[in-house]
Amino acid sequence: MSKISGKVNHLAIIMDGNGRWAEARNLERTAGHRAGADNVLKIMQAAKEFDIKYLTLYAFSTENWKRPAAEVGALMKLLQEFIFKQLPFMQKENVRLNAIGRLNDLPEAARLSLLGAMKATANNTGGVLTLALNYGGRSEIVDAAKKLIAAVKDGRIAPEEIDETTFQQFLYAPELPDPDLVIRTSGELRISNFLLWEMAYSELYISNVMWPDFDCNELKKALEAYSSRNRRFGGIEKK
Ligand code: IPE
Ligand code: IPE
Ligand code: MG
Repeated sequence: MSKISGKVNHLAIIMDGNGRWAEARNLERTAGHRAGADNVLKIMQAAKEFDIKYLTLYAFSTENWKRPAAEVGALMKLLQEFIFKQLPFMQKENVRLNAIGRLNDLPEAARLSLLGAMKATANNTGGVLTLALNYGGRSEIVDAAKKLIAAVKDGRIAPEEIDETTFQQFLYAPELPDPDLVIRTSGELRISNFLLWEMAYSELYISNVMWPDFDCNELKKALEAYSSRNRRFGGIEKK
């Protein structure tokens, strides 16, 4: 696979459309989630080939608990299966598993397999896969504010030291760079509470393809689109 210019260092994906993919095939929504989880393994490998160092995947939002209990249960079970299946790949490729979100509220079994895999890969240095689980951009900011207030209360930070850099240190994964590119599949034109702080200047790419069908070629198209963007960060165009 050839490398393309305009490098994406951190790619974040809102993996949407599993349910519609299944419904279009007269299958249960759960079958769509299974196909979606299989696709994660493929996209992880493709991202590695494209030399993307950080990959962040929106797997379960703080709002997704509103879904029927059976669907939520199936998603949590798939998470465990996914971790079991992808661990050998992560070890082989030297990738570290990371997670963002209110992890304490995940079901015990899912939480334990997640924490186990994070521990097993903690010293890997070849890339970072971050799963957003029970994640909400607003809860992340609220949680950061609470931690910051605690730090001010016990004298670790003076109120006048608070700026964007200090605040950022209290987010779930302060060591992650902001995403360069955020992809949303299935054609929806919204952020759905993903990485609100971090994507302030990310480039957005919407694909009409449903997540289970979003393959290596679709990823390549997104990266090519990114490489022709001009990121200005509020400044003026570089000639
Ligand atoms: C994305 O697919 C997976 C999760 C949100 C967990 P959806 O389940 O949202 O699929 P659609 O949007 O209903 O098609
Ligand atoms: C966003 O998709 C969350 C994930 C991909 C995990 P949703 O399907 O939950 O978003 P809405 O409800 O269409 O905004
Ligand atoms: Mg959806």
